[in-house]
Amino acid sequence: MADSTPDTARLIIGDQEIELPIIRGREGDAAVDIRGLRGKTGYITYDPGLGNTGSCTSEITYLNGEEGILRYSGYPIEELAKQSSFLEVAWLLFKRELPSRDELQAFEKEVIYHSMVHEDLKRFFSSLPKAGHPMAICAATVGAISTFYEAVRYEDPDDEHWAAAIRLLAKMPTIAAYSYKHSVGQPFMYPRNELSYAANTLYMMFGTPCEAYDPDPVVVRALDLLLILHADHEQNCSTSTVRTVGSSHANMFASVSAGISALWGPLHGGANEKVIEMLIAIRDGDRSASEFMELAKDKNSPVRLMGFGHRVYKNYDPRARILKKACHDVLSRTGTSNPLLEIALELEDIALADPYFVERKLYPNVDFYSGLIYQALGIPVEMFTVFFALGRMPGWIAQWLEFHRDQDAKINRPRQVYLGHETRSYVALDER
Ligand code: SDX
Repeated sequence: MADSTPDTARLIIGDQEIELPIIRGREGDAAVDIRGLRGKTGYITYDPGLGNTGSCTSEITYLNGEEGILRYSGYPIEELAKQSSFLEVAWLLFKRELPSRDELQAFEKEVIYHSMVHEDLKRFFSSLPKAGHPMAICAATVGAISTFYEAVRYEDPDDEHWAAAIRLLAKMPTIAAYSYKHSVGQPFMYPRNELSYAANTLYMMFGTPCEAYDPDPVVVRALDLLLILHADHEQNCSTSTVRTVGSSHANMFASVSAGISALWGPLHGGANEKVIEMLIAIRDGDRSASEFMELAKDKNSPVRLMGFGHRVYKNYDPRARILKKACHDVLSRTGTSNPLLEIALELEDIALADPYFVERKLYPNVDFYSGLIYQALGIPVEMFTVFFALGRMPGWIAQWLEFHRDQDAKINRPRQVYLGHETRSYVALDER
């Protein structure tokens, strides 16, 4: 009877046969440990995009792409979306346990207390072009704020890491809101410590000194839900960027700044902005949804169905399922309707029945519906990916902290297969 759970793998290369250990995960996932491969055989593995390569072990988030499962430290995303709050989820990602009431209250107070940014940072914003993309401004600012803390010395690195974690989590909404206020020429709004995290974010985004502004509780709850759903997603492109930069022992601010830049890409977090642009192009253009879908399937066309497909999910992204329902809830409770939602639903119906998408297991991902909710909350399109970064902040921090506590962790330095010129002698300039 073949062993269905062997603890080694045999590899035969030419007349050499070696055994490699197998590492088994908690949920039936398993990996061939190839750390000894090059030393034993001189061979490396080749896996562009790293879709078949584990870069680490982790206890933070589990996702199963085939079954469309997402859990933060064992808790299903569906339950956290219904019952938790963003700061409680942030604590869960950092500590791998839900907080007690006292722990949560103390954590919320600590985060809100650090939400103000140094006054000198305002000049930093003012030096940047108003039309600059807020993701560029946020990446630059997050990298720059480490300069305000360089003089602070810590005995214990864990204390330094915790202080950086609190500052990043606390100040990201302020930085995000300031990047928006700068772009519209409105005064920066100081955070209000009596407001919740999501409410403060909305207040700093949309409040002005001219009149009282209290965010709508429906909008606050919807934003908190969006932040929960984006909080972590194991080794996605931006998170593995944060780990890679952190692996050189660059500080947490620099690592997260790199993560923000990676998230900005339209194949990653930047897709939420592209989804809305795609829906608007269909609404205002001369192509119907089905004509657009034909283009999305055409290899010679640059058109892609943004918000569809995923490196890991080959099933419906559980976050998209929650967001699709939330879309209807938010639109009805804010008394707004959005023709773009109708177009999105039509595109989804077409895709889920079209062999091109079905055979390639292309389903809506987190970005397909999130933009419609951001729009309903009054968040401008150019800020959508910034709000993705707001949500992903605790995940980036948790993964960075986990890397620094991992005894096996080393600086990330992949290998390559060289296909360039063989050795040759230098040719002097006047002989070329
Ligand atoms: C996020 O990794 C994460 O966890 C990311 C994320 C997170 O929380 O951090 O979940 C957030 O980034 C979600 C993804 C957002 N991006 C988009 O919505 C952009 C549109 N999607 C694609 O560009 C694409 O699906 C990717 C980049 C997301 C995934 O690319 P893959 O897995 O490398 O897929 P692929 O390029 O190998 O495509 C497989 C096939 C190809 O066709 P064939 O060559 O087999 O004929 O599917 C086609 C692709 O052409 N395809 C699409 C498509 N996505 C894949 N065709 C049309 N429209 C699409 N969106």
